[in-house]
Amino acid sequence: GAVELGPFRHFMQKEIFEQPRAIGDTIPAINTFDPSLFGDAARDVFPKIEGVLILACGTSYYSGLCAKYWLEAIAGLPTQVEVASEYRYRESVPRPNDLVVVISQSGETADTMSALKHAQALGHTHTLAVCNVATSAMVRTAGMSFLTRAGTEIGVASTKAFTTQLVALFVLAATLGKLRGRVDADAEAQYVHQLRHLPAAINAALALEPQIIAWSEEFARKENALFLGRGLHYPIALEGALKLKEISYIHAEAYPAGELKHGPLALVTEAMPVVTVAPNDALLEKLKSNMQEVRARGGQLYVFADADTHIESEPGLHVIRMPEHYGALSPILHVVPLQLLAYHTACARGTDVDKPRNLAKSVTVE
Ligand code: G6P
Repeated sequence: GAVELGPFRHFMQKEIFEQPRAIGDTIPAINTFDPSLFGDAARDVFPKIEGVLILACGTSYYSGLCAKYWLEAIAGLPTQVEVASEYRYRESVPRPNDLVVVISQSGETADTMSALKHAQALGHTHTLAVCNVATSAMVRTAGMSFLTRAGTEIGVASTKAFTTQLVALFVLAATLGKLRGRVDADAEAQYVHQLRHLPAAINAALALEPQIIAWSEEFARKENALFLGRGLHYPIALEGALKLKEISYIHAEAYPAGELKHGPLALVTEAMPVVTVAPNDALLEKLKSNMQEVRARGGQLYVFADADTHIESEPGLHVIRMPEHYGALSPILHVVPLQLLAYHTACARGTDVDKPRNLAKSVTVE
């Protein structure tokens, strides 16, 4: 039947709030990380894999960037992530024992589809599609597949497809890590537990909406914004900036916080809000000194800080408190308030949130 808006103003908002359900549906039967989750062929293929090559566009590319951190840290597999439209047209060196992973909400994006065929033409036989549409060209073309269960996504700016892709890619990293003897039974049990509690943790992040609406009124008056993150959360900063520019038309860019002093610091004034993703991870102290670099130039910081980071609000430093640190899965939680910030900023500016100008939901021609 027709997809209804229910109590929501836009499909994007509805889809943001559907994420606990979408993630729950994507991991229903996962009690253990078994290659069969990725199709029958994975049982033979996964033990042979020596590296990973990820190809995607847009938001799906950012889920791939996040996966690189997981695949290297958890599975110990060298991982490359490349924008599909670049890969398909350059001379690259194929590594036949790599697993080629295409990530796509639609499964029909022309550049990603062509990149998959290009990889196959170069001799890559181990191909996996992480996709939200079971009948799509990519699922039919790749040797293996993992379906995200986000359900139909209508808003042009992708939200629930992104977080379900992250879940799928985390499961991929854990599965390959287990096969390679790097994820023991204790670690597996802990990862499964964290995955199962993710819908509840996302609900807690969604409850921050009123505080984010207050921030969005400030953001709506700005023309530029900078997003900072480090490590696993750098791709989340990229995704936060992409969401804001897509639907609010505010110029936004993201930097790994350690790179601030190599350029973007020159742009920092009180006119440019600096959104900071601040999980309580091993890089927290480094991140705090990057925040200090912004403060010293009169920049306005808007920080999404885990409960236990001891980052407190003061003039020029605005803090929204996230739940406690969620370990390796933290990026999946931290993207949610960034989606809401972009959404409410766009609403405050009165843009066509579900159908931003010049953009298409699925780009099926080059
Ligand atoms: C378009 C959409 C984006 C999406 C990208 C890749 O640009 O507007 O939201 O991330 O395509 O789409 P895919 O279906 O391959 O994930």
